[in-house]
Amino acid sequence: MIETVIRTLGLSKKYRSGDNLLTIFDDMNLEIRQGERLALVGESGAGKSTLLHLLSGLDRPSGGKIYFGQREITSLNADELAEFRNREIGFVWQIHYLLPEFTALENVMMPLLIRTQPSVNRDEIQALAMSRLQEVGLASRSHHRSGELSGGEQQRVVLARALVTKPNFLFADEPTGNLDERTGEMIAELLAELHSTHALTSVYVTHNPRFASQCDRVLRLEAGQLQPNFYDRVPPHVPSDNGRGSSMEAGLN
Ligand SMILES: Nc1ncnc2c1ncn2[C@@H]1O[C@H](COP(=O)(O)OP(=O)(O)O)[C@@H](O)[C@H]1O
Ligand SMILES: [Mg+2]
Repeated sequence: MIETVIRTLGLSKKYRSGDNLLTIFDDMNLEIRQGERLALVGESGAGKSTLLHLLSGLDRPSGGKIYFGQREITSLNADELAEFRNREIGFVWQIHYLLPEFTALENVMMPLLIRTQPSVNRDEIQALAMSRLQEVGLASRSHHRSGELSGGEQQRVVLARALVTKPNFLFADEPTGNLDERTGEMIAELLAELHSTHALTSVYVTHNPRFASQCDRVLRLEAGQLQPNFYDRVPPHVPSDNGRGSSMEAGLN
């Protein structure tokens, strides 16, 4: 039986602006299974990034709970949550947050360097970071400043950095966005490959129907609801050049 590894119970997020209360979503119940690749789609402003931020412990819900296995992350304090994120989660955000003055290698090392109780020394961190850069095909650029790299190369550094901590979960917000089609395709392929080799559970926000159709499941966030709100496995072998007619394509239009 495949285990549920992330579960939300009655999750809600509301923003107050002046006298108005803006409800992004309310009473959301989502289950994500071990090893799953889940794509979240929906119109701009639907709340996809908000949901990803909550799931990854970067933001707090207005109500409800989030469990990773038996662990309720919504009850952790700020330090515990930061530790949890650093140990368990790899982040791939569209805004890269790379440090432009640092080399690709230094950027990839960063999540391990900032640990308060490092379990490995600097040489080991460097070796690990280098092997991640190799995995994404950027070993030859390791000593280039990240600010000197192309968009696609920077996104590969972000992937390497996301995985340097050996996380169990990968969250990506529009990982193929802002890239030309071919580069986006290459990042999508890398994400699929890394998902397998690192035995990840991955959640992606995407506007890219082709990428979404390659995932195990696609959920559309609309008017605060996830649809379909049940386990709906998209046929795994949807040809990548034929998204037409898939539930995804219909969902995006
Ligand atoms: N800090 C905030 N304060 C108030 N409203 C916010 C805040 N962050 C996001 N929102 C609103 O929440 C909604 C969902 O935003 P977001 O999650 O970024 O959508 P998406 O990623 O689907 O485009 C938007 O209407 C946005 O304006
Ligand atoms: Mg967004």
